[in-house]
Amino acid sequence: MSRTTLILCATTEGHTARIAERIAQRLRGKGRRVEIHRADAVPAGLEPAGYDGVIVGSSIHYGRHPGFLRALVRRFRTALTAQPSAFFSVSLSAGGPGAKPEAARRYLETFLRQVDWHPPQTATFAGALQYSKYGVFKRLLMRMIVGIAGGDTDPTRDYEYTDWNAVDRFADEFAQRLKQA
Ligand SMILES: Cc1cc2nc3c(=O)[nH]c(=O)nc-3n(C[C@H](O)[C@H](O)[C@H](O)COP(=O)(O)O)c2cc1C
Repeated sequence: MSRTTLILCATTEGHTARIAERIAQRLRGKGRRVEIHRADAVPAGLEPAGYDGVIVGSSIHYGRHPGFLRALVRRFRTALTAQPSAFFSVSLSAGGPGAKPEAARRYLETFLRQVDWHPPQTATFAGALQYSKYGVFKRLLMRMIVGIAGGDTDPTRDYEYTDWNAVDRFADEFAQRLKQA
């Protein structure tokens, strides 16, 4: 079997892709090969069954994971279920000022229920507020929503809340699962 792990990530402003890259680096440090693809631009013919394990990660926008990811996970569900797999969800609910961890967990669980996938390893990671990447409307909207929640509203800078040690622990746990498989 291939010793390459596949990471699929759904990202809008790029932060989930950074988390995916961090996981990849950690796995590579343990001698694993890793391929990362954006879930909205999966190469034609990509087959998760050809990998030794699959990690899917996605950010939350407007209270949900993207519809294209639901379609992709449903398409790949048989392969995902047959091999080591994991899912992580990235949001502001998961961490940072005004966080609501139970909401972050709910987003994750709702998604997995919708796609009928039950990976043995899941995590919610705090994301980032990237005002520099938002257009005028999104910046206004985010300042308003984040302000109500008691979060950071200075639009002249970006904020990152991710606990990178937690991301490393997630990667280490997955590496352990690959070893045991
Ligand atoms: C327009 C918009 C809507 C968002 N909606 C939510 C939300 O409903 N709940 C939440 O916890 N976080 C929400 N977030 C925060 C994102 O999940 C967070 O910024 C994450 O880091 C984005 O990751 P990405 O860059 O990979 O897309 C929202 C962010 C934006 C920009």
